[in-house]
Amino acid sequence: MGWLRFPDGELGRWACLGTVTDRSVRVWLRDPTCAPHEARLWVQGTIAATATLTPSPTHDGIAAADVVLPTPAPGAAVTVEVAGHQRIAALAPAAGDRAAVRFALGSCHLPFVRRPQGLVVHAGVGIYPAMARVLRARGVQFLLLLGDQVYSDGLRQVQPRRVLRRRLAAGMPLPPLAAVQAWYRRLYRGFFAQQGFRALLEGWPSYLMWDDHDILDGWGSLLHVGPAEQHLYAAACAAYLEYQHLHNPGASLADAPPFDYHFWRGDVGFYVLDVRGARDYRAGVLLGEAQWRRFEAFLEEATARGVPTVFVGTSIPVFHFPPVLIRLLEHMERPPGSDGRDRWSSTRFRSERDRLCEQLLAWQAARPDRQVFLLSGDVHAGAAFWVWRPGVRGGLHQWTSSALTTPSTIGHHLANWLGTAAVNVGEDRYRARCRRRELRNNFAVVEVQPLERGGHRVTFALYGYDPDRGLLRAHPPLHAQPR
Ligand SMILES: [Fe+2]
Repeated sequence: MGWLRFPDGELGRWACLGTVTDRSVRVWLRDPTCAPHEARLWVQGTIAATATLTPSPTHDGIAAADVVLPTPAPGAAVTVEVAGHQRIAALAPAAGDRAAVRFALGSCHLPFVRRPQGLVVHAGVGIYPAMARVLRARGVQFLLLLGDQVYSDGLRQVQPRRVLRRRLAAGMPLPPLAAVQAWYRRLYRGFFAQQGFRALLEGWPSYLMWDDHDILDGWGSLLHVGPAEQHLYAAACAAYLEYQHLHNPGASLADAPPFDYHFWRGDVGFYVLDVRGARDYRAGVLLGEAQWRRFEAFLEEATARGVPTVFVGTSIPVFHFPPVLIRLLEHMERPPGSDGRDRWSSTRFRSERDRLCEQLLAWQAARPDRQVFLLSGDVHAGAAFWVWRPGVRGGLHQWTSSALTTPSTIGHHLANWLGTAAVNVGEDRYRARCRRRELRNNFAVVEVQPLERGGHRVTFALYGYDPDRGLLRAHPPLHAQPR
């Protein structure tokens, strides 16, 4: 499927952090020699906890483990030492604590372009050091990366789906699954080794979720899924488990899709939906009933905990393009048909969209201090929407950041500008108003501050990056608080 040499090489022995609680830190390690390593958690100059990581020879030399303190130390600054690497983090506030939460939101990491001499990084990678400076200055505690952390098909001439289909058409067998899996692993090692992105993963604990390009373009929205696509999905799924999912709360290599997860920080709840793992446009299934049940249990737990603010990650935004356009596109077999079918408001997924919105609207309306924020990526534009249903009290915020580095075109810019401006055309149930829009590469910082009267003041700071001038542009921050 093509041999790639990455400009910044590939990950070798390397470590980063995932889930952080008030008494534990998840350590992710790759060591191709598969030698066991002890991870040491330092608090105030002493080793307060250790865990042994044993990289797996059948999982590309990867291991992950939670290093757990004997007792919680909410907010403590900790250092993790493992395999010669040092990583720092701040432990989470205790459950229910009214403490500030600050995180960065981003998606779509495609830092390479293909030239005759091979892959090179493009000028857009300048966003990463600029982003790191902002995150440091704003005291960001963790990253939430919502999809397309690798592009299996984003580099010209590397189209695995086409390669496998051609083989089948020529009467050749599919390559062994292990070979396809090795190819996805190599993508991860190359994409994550890009120095700007790698520095982010080294600098902050990260929570991740895949989207279609981590698998193949339009996965779950394709009209024809045959052995070639199933083969790619199985390989992408295994590599996603190893390189991304293992960062997330409670994740293990034995998990099966969908890979949704949740966590709590103080009195704030996070649920990250997996909108790819169960998706099947032909069957009209988006989240799948098992994921719905887990999500509904999360909202019930948020109520039981007295949590006033919840964030719901969905790599694909619930609102962005006008339904009238989606209805036109979704019947086209070829692109942009699958882009239309990808939308929550496409014909087959609309009932699940309404189920999500109605549950969230009802939850936020039940207490005056509650707020709900949808967080998204996917569309290669940054945006903030206020969404409501006429006749229902309150509404939902939807904040999107995409793409970190994926290059855009004038066509993309135009589609995003017109699409967000006309978002209500053909929509008969909800209303959305676009309050921020960034068409260039971007990231966002979200800050959650407790209010004395209850609930939170939540701020969305969106930053666009101009690669030609190497300049970061901060949009005026958007503040939200209970109405
Ligand atoms: Fe993307």
